[in-house]
Amino acid sequence: MQEIDLGLIGIGVMGQNLARNFLRNGYSIAVYNRTAEKTRKFVSNYPEISGLYSLEEFVNSLRRPRRIMLMVTAGPAVDATILDLEKYVSEGDVILDGGNSFFQDTERRCQDLSARHLYYLGVGVSGGEEGALNGPCIMVGGTPEAYDQVSKMLTDVAAKVEGSCCQLMGPRGAGHYVKMVHNGIEYAVIQILAEAYDLLLRGARFSPQQIHDVFAEWNTSEMNSFLMEIATAVLDRHDPKTNSPLVSLILDSAKQKGTGKWTSQNSMELGIPTPTIDAAVSARNLSSLKTERVTAANLPRNLQKLTIGSHLVENLRSAVQASIIIAYAQGFHLMRAASKEYRYGLPFVEIARIWKGGCIIRARLLDPIKEAFEREIDLQNLIVDPNFNRVLRGLESDWRAVTAAAHELGIPIPAVDASLDYFDGYRTERLPANFVQALRDYFGAHGYERVDKTGQFHTDWASRSD
Ligand code: ATR
Repeated sequence: MQEIDLGLIGIGVMGQNLARNFLRNGYSIAVYNRTAEKTRKFVSNYPEISGLYSLEEFVNSLRRPRRIMLMVTAGPAVDATILDLEKYVSEGDVILDGGNSFFQDTERRCQDLSARHLYYLGVGVSGGEEGALNGPCIMVGGTPEAYDQVSKMLTDVAAKVEGSCCQLMGPRGAGHYVKMVHNGIEYAVIQILAEAYDLLLRGARFSPQQIHDVFAEWNTSEMNSFLMEIATAVLDRHDPKTNSPLVSLILDSAKQKGTGKWTSQNSMELGIPTPTIDAAVSARNLSSLKTERVTAANLPRNLQKLTIGSHLVENLRSAVQASIIIAYAQGFHLMRAASKEYRYGLPFVEIARIWKGGCIIRARLLDPIKEAFEREIDLQNLIVDPNFNRVLRGLESDWRAVTAAAHELGIPIPAVDASLDYFDGYRTERLPANFVQALRDYFGAHGYERVDKTGQFHTDWASRSD
């Protein structure tokens, strides 16, 4: 006893696959799960893994300092598990939370546990089921001393692209923060691809197979990404019973676990615009109002243009490419603000590198993003990087043509639209916020600043004098 390298609590899909990954990399593993039956079943398939049925025995089976990874559902389950664990662990032990915890919860837990002389790491793990088994992207938050205790085992099991795709992102909640923004970008890219699918399906009247061919061609270019790859695979799948494309049989009501919403909420909190991510979250919300949409769809409507011109199919490639760049630009811009606000000191070059392996948003685009931050570590926004600025300007006219056509057709493209508006807004020297300020001052006496003199001003707008 007391020989086991790592203890893992929670053997859902991610926990099981991560345990198998550690095992394959030569680490001895003990698992504990609230529901004992699940443990029994799991260890019967993997007898090299020790299954324990009391938390005390589980903790006592681990080599000191103990390393215990939680893979339980984010939220109260993490607090409950830590509370139980605290009875058995001792000073210097390391607890890692590998779930999708909200970064502010991780901040709180770090503080609580450091007061008890326990090390705590908030570990963002991306890559889904397959990544957990074969090499995820691992974004760690915590102290360097705590990370030292586990860095070897985490870097061993992570994906490898120019080194291990596991990295310390910064203190406290930094790892879960970066994972949250990763998911926000993921929401945006998925929505952009869905909008392209919709324009091709309803606008160009393409079959799912033809859309597959378009996406497959895009995936051979600089637009290559894991999400594009799985988009082609999804479009290729047929329902065995009806032989219809399976995607056409899936209910158009998207679910969410909340990480995209957290990204939008945090961007509002920090005052950093992420409209492409916000649009993706709202699009999922709108999709889930299926019954209301069906009712509204049956109301009389004006006739819309029926089909998209053939050249717009080519233009769509530019619109998708540009919008995806903008989604990443917003994510990095948000992380830049968060890095300052929460004193994370996020390593942007390394974030772009580790996102290239194992995670859901891995994409060829991360190469030029990494290069942009290598050129200018204080880069405000990818839009102003000379390379991205040139690329976006090259895509611009096709992108505008697509948004115009989509509006004529009455096919919503909220993420592509929001991306173009952001691109335009971010590059506008004088926005109509002067007008907003005037109205605010009129009804609320909120005051305004002027362009021609310094100070705060107020006008008595209702009176016509002065
Ligand atoms: P995954 O997506 O990887 O399947 P999940 O469903 O979020 O992950 O997490 C499932 C794990 O969290 C399970 O091990 C679950 O334990 P049970 O098998 O007993 O359901 C664990 N879990 C969820 N809530 C828990 C709680 N309140 N206390 C302890 N473990 C909990």
